[in-house]
Amino acid sequence: MVDALGGWTTGSGPLYRLLARAVTAAVERGDLDRGARLPSERSLAAAVDVSRGVVVAAYDELVADGTIERRQGSGTFVAGSPEVGLPPGREGSALFGRLVEGRTDAVIDLSISVLHEARWLPDVTVRAADVADPAADSPWGIPALRERVARGLSAVGLPTGAEQVVITTGAQQGISIAAGCWVRPGDAVVVDDPTYPGVLSALAAAGAVVRPVPVDRDGIVLAEMEAALADRPALVYLQTGPHSPTGTHLSRHRRAVIARWLVERRVPLIEDVALESVDWSATPPLRPLAAHIPDHPAAVVGSFSKQFWAGLRVGFVRAPGPVAARLVRVKATHDLGSSTVSQAMALALLEHPGHSRALARRNRVLARRADLLVALLAEALPDWRCSAPDGGLSLWVQLPGPVAARFADAALRHGVAVATADGLSVTGRHRDRLRLTFALPEPDLREAVARLATAWNGADVSAPGRRRPLAGR
Ligand SMILES: Cc1ncc(COP(=O)(O)O)c(C=O)c1O
Repeated sequence: MVDALGGWTTGSGPLYRLLARAVTAAVERGDLDRGARLPSERSLAAAVDVSRGVVVAAYDELVADGTIERRQGSGTFVAGSPEVGLPPGREGSALFGRLVEGRTDAVIDLSISVLHEARWLPDVTVRAADVADPAADSPWGIPALRERVARGLSAVGLPTGAEQVVITTGAQQGISIAAGCWVRPGDAVVVDDPTYPGVLSALAAAGAVVRPVPVDRDGIVLAEMEAALADRPALVYLQTGPHSPTGTHLSRHRRAVIARWLVERRVPLIEDVALESVDWSATPPLRPLAAHIPDHPAAVVGSFSKQFWAGLRVGFVRAPGPVAARLVRVKATHDLGSSTVSQAMALALLEHPGHSRALARRNRVLARRADLLVALLAEALPDWRCSAPDGGLSLWVQLPGPVAARFADAALRHGVAVATADGLSVTGRHRDRLRLTFALPEPDLREAVARLATAWNGADVSAPGRRRPLAGR
């Protein structure tokens, strides 16, 4: 309290009034919180070395003007209720705001790249008696699911034991706990640019300073990666692919080179493979980058939200044993353990004999939707540039000028939500880009593109006298 008042005795007028003014100023600056309890008149008088009568008169004046209030039997308080505020960086980007606000029927949402449909999945049954088991109810996750994940990773060239696997509440939690383990406030973290927005939010919450490294058609660019590593970052996060939002894969050569650099410079890694199952490229999948350096402190983060559907909320982290043991301690502070029902369902789906066929069918549908959205955009919005990726959930669309933010507002007024690079990048480099998901049913994609074209060409985004004012700016 005394610190909040500062040098309050300077100024003209009676002491009680100077004191009252100093309290008002401290409340306005936020140095004294709304609803905070104030010291008694006697103890404040002793603390600031004035007579009790001065404090009584100051408090009387503050009560009269409504700045503070006396509550019978409990003391004197700053008026108003404490505000619910969050320290900066804790809320995530605008896209997280959209997730929280939820959908409305009036808006077709191309801004959130998630899989909501579960129609294509085989039926499975989860019995409470099977999951209500002390061995299953652990922050590590259900043993049988950990075994299954370990086998899956070993099969793609990353030898893994079940003891190296932590089941998480989605890949997002895997990223958050890995950031929680390796990042202290102020640490530099290398991140692919543009990237998945959840990683930027998790790193902001951890107090990291993001060092963006651009991505081209072969993934993160080596020359810029080398320069970023020379600055001794605390951590590298990258996606080996399909990459969100560009749909690219990190090439075999780049995986090997980056793996070597990480070991030489002793920099830990988060390798995000969340979208690995949403892939219809003709070539067989490459080994994860971590397979080049299986004992290096690397957290490979995967997701069943992408293999099955978003609401399942099950993912995993694979790391060397001692790292996994640290990650699981951090995870336990978040949720004590992921839902055993969801984990049992993920396991049942993985073990269903029709699983691979159903996944291939689902991916064919997604590939068709990607092609359809590209074709619809080419026809209705010929100034826009994009190509169909062979994996992932979104198109990374280039507009003819840096107008994405303005256009996003116009699109929303026309009933389509689109994502701009705000939240996907800490640079200002992508102001001409939109991320549009194609993971919606075909009628929604058709309607969305019709509305986008109206918004693009429409009067409300056109300056008077110009037909295509957004283009080229
Ligand atoms: C690249 C990437 N990583 C992680 C996640 C988070 O996945 P989950 O739903 O399992 O938390 C997503 C989800 O969109 C993603 O696209």
